[in-house]
Amino acid sequence: MRKYIVGNWKMNGTSADLHEIAAIATMAAAYPSVDSAICIPATLIERAAAALPEFSIGGQDCHATASGAHTGCVAAAMLVDAGARVTIIGHSERRAAQHETDADIRGKAEAARIEGLNVIVCVGETLQERDAGRALEIVLGQLQHSLPANSSADWLSIAYEPVWAIGTGRIPEEKDVREMHAAIREQLVGRFGETGKKFRLLYGGSMNGENATMLLAIPDVDGGLIGGASLSAAKFEPILAAAANSGE
Ligand code: 13P
Repeated sequence: MRKYIVGNWKMNGTSADLHEIAAIATMAAAYPSVDSAICIPATLIERAAAALPEFSIGGQDCHATASGAHTGCVAAAMLVDAGARVTIIGHSERRAAQHETDADIRGKAEAARIEGLNVIVCVGETLQERDAGRALEIVLGQLQHSLPANSSADWLSIAYEPVWAIGTGRIPEEKDVREMHAAIREQLVGRFGETGKKFRLLYGGSMNGENATMLLAIPDVDGGLIGGASLSAAKFEPILAAAANSGE
């Protein structure tokens, strides 16, 4: 399976940073064996996509409905119109701060799909949940209820992001990532059959140039969703290099 390395710029970036997105796109082109994308603020998508037609620019959310009275929200068709090819849905920061439920996330993923976007659905447990021994139950529950019934590996990937690893510099032990990704895979195969083997499962949470080789070597880790280390080409490059060297 081709590795998929995706940057999530979160609420960072203005027009002054377009040159960095261009630098990332140029750098990524040097790793043709790896699929990559950068999910940037909605305000930058149109300019970045127009300047970088070969590179995959993405959004970080979309609304579950096509249009209407939803002040401040962005519809999937608007992302597509601006040039986005992919969007993150259900990031833990949105689950927590915007109170997004699994049902909301499923609706958003469906809306994105209808408009032809690729989708990355995020799941992940909090530290409290992990400490209580509930990590598998929480993540598998989120997965069960956040994925649309017609999910297909052609357009949907899953990102496992333990909340306590995001932006903290802490990562789970190798065996815990292995256990979680195996459990996610098992659920996908149980639900979708053979095609469940084809979904790309990304790991996210403090992935960087130092730990990417280890993380990307874990079975069923098919890529990464990267926050802080995606903000510059210099920090992002070693992750793409690790993916390119990871064999499959
Ligand atoms: P960091 O890589 O900054 O920990 O962020 C991970 C993340 O939330 C990506 O969506």
